[in-house]
Amino acid sequence: STGVARDGSGALVVGGVPVARLAQEVGTPAYVLDEADLRARAAGYRRAFETAFAEVGAGVDVYYAGKAFLSVAVARWVHDEGLRVDTASGGELTVALRAGVPGADIGLHGNNKSDEELALALDHGVGRVIVDSLVEVERLAALVRSRGGDPAPVMVRVTTGVHAGGHEYISTAHEDQKFGLSVTARDGQDSPAMTALLAVLDHPELRLLGIHSHIGSQILDPSGFEVAARVVLELRAQLARRTGVLVEEVDLGGGYGIAYLPGEVALDPDRIAKDVAASVAAAAADLATPLPRFSIEPGRAVVGPSGLTLYTVGTVKPVRVDDETERLYVSVDGGMSDNIRPALYGARYHAEVVGRLSSAPSVLARVVGKHCESGDVVVHEVQLPGDVRAGDLLAVAATGAYGRSMASNYNLLTRPPVVAVRDGAVRTLLRRETVDDLLALDQG
Ligand code: LLP
Repeated sequence: STGVARDGSGALVVGGVPVARLAQEVGTPAYVLDEADLRARAAGYRRAFETAFAEVGAGVDVYYAGKAFLSVAVARWVHDEGLRVDTASGGELTVALRAGVPGADIGLHGNNKSDEELALALDHGVGRVIVDSLVEVERLAALVRSRGGDPAPVMVRVTTGVHAGGHEYISTAHEDQKFGLSVTARDGQDSPAMTALLAVLDHPELRLLGIHSHIGSQILDPSGFEVAARVVLELRAQLARRTGVLVEEVDLGGGYGIAYLPGEVALDPDRIAKDVAASVAAAAADLATPLPRFSIEPGRAVVGPSGLTLYTVGTVKPVRVDDETERLYVSVDGGMSDNIRPALYGARYHAEVVGRLSSAPSVLARVVGKHCESGDVVVHEVQLPGDVRAGDLLAVAATGAYGRSMASNYNLLTRPPVVAVRDGAVRTLLRRETVDDLLALDQG
């Protein structure tokens, strides 16, 4: 990320803070977030989309998808930078509210929201509830009826059939998965999406804001966004023909891919914003409908590249793989409990020895964790200096998204802290868990 450099001794400095100092002050493993970098990415997405969409005459709001990583400070930072916050549970919603983000600037997602979560959203006047099923439409309407008060602002999440993203588990808009309502009509019936839109319009307790589509995550081929946007605009035009209601908003979801490895190229926000703006403008012209207000929900692209994980190396074991290959197994003091992505998705990361400069020739290495499981891999394949040894600090890049937010306590490891660095200062956003924190849950 932008705030990373090496000092005279060859040690990494991030956000003006040498990693050795970080390790001393907060210990390892630790997640380190570069605040200036994160803010710049948030602002960069907002500016890119505002500029490109203004050129075609449409407004746009950028929601930060808090599932990637949310803490009170991060919610404040992104809100400061002009973003709203997209939440996927009562927990995320509560953190955003605690940060002082007004309910009106928050959205609530989920394919199986509880009544408590829906009530919490209504209590705080969230700007939109993204409904994911016909059952939810009925439940939300009943809840508003029983409580009284203003109609709930609703978007309907649809699946456009566009299959995009880095891994099957994170592709969300093809049909054979749990999210959203299909736009495909079958057997002469309305599509599930159309049925849900009509149902929302039928309920005086609900106010239909618009249509939502999220096609997947870690997307590096931008064409899916354009196809999905067109499908959503077509559905919107159909609904207008049918009911006279032209919904005001369309959300195109998140999913903008980042670079995890040296040499990989992230989606460029300016580029993608321009392409998507041009294609929605063309689609709206074809359909002879005015453009709606748009929104997007990037998570990973805002926080992912701004974070790294700092580990300390423990045991190092050379393994003869075959006649030609030797691989160094480098164990660190964390693992699949702080980053499940390699084990879950086969995700690839890059690691470097960051506490010193080494002139030793590099060797093939695999960075592994300390869990009692052989799939506990942090970095599958990486070149590390051949003299890598116990006590070395090792950093894994681009772990800001879906690292801490998917962390577990497997083997009763305590979850690492999240610290922010900025202008040479260190600030703890989430403290390290302790075994006492875990024991506090244990009722004997
Ligand atoms: N909006 C909706 C409705 C979503 O479902 C998601 C991600 C996002 C926005 C944000 O997507 P992003 O811009 O961060 O790609 N745990 C997986 C990713 C799951 C994403 C689920 N939904 C991973 O570690 O790759």
